[in-house]
Amino acid sequence: MKTVSPFLEIDPQSDHVLVRFEGQDLSLPLGENLAGALLVAGVMPFRHTPVSGAPRGPFCMMGACFDCLVQIDGMTVQACMLQVTKGLEITMPAARGAADA
Ligand code: FES
Repeated sequence: MKTVSPFLEIDPQSDHVLVRFEGQDLSLPLGENLAGALLVAGVMPFRHTPVSGAPRGPFCMMGACFDCLVQIDGMTVQACMLQVTKGLEITMPAARGAADA
């Protein structure tokens, strides 16, 4: 029995804008969920854990796990809680030991 998915598909025909992740230009759908759009674009991981350096990416997609953390304009934010907007400059949060330098 087929059920209706609670997830909405990203419309490939929607307007796309240029954003940058770790210096790589990406064309993402304007207004879509940032974490979802980055995943569709093939971005993984989003960050590394500060203690072990293990790679992390979106897990819950609802703001609970913090595995989707990225840095935008110097602020560490949850990508799953944001929408794609034009010109985002996204980086991974500071790596382990970077704050010690
Ligand atoms: S994916 Fe869990 S907080 Fe964003």
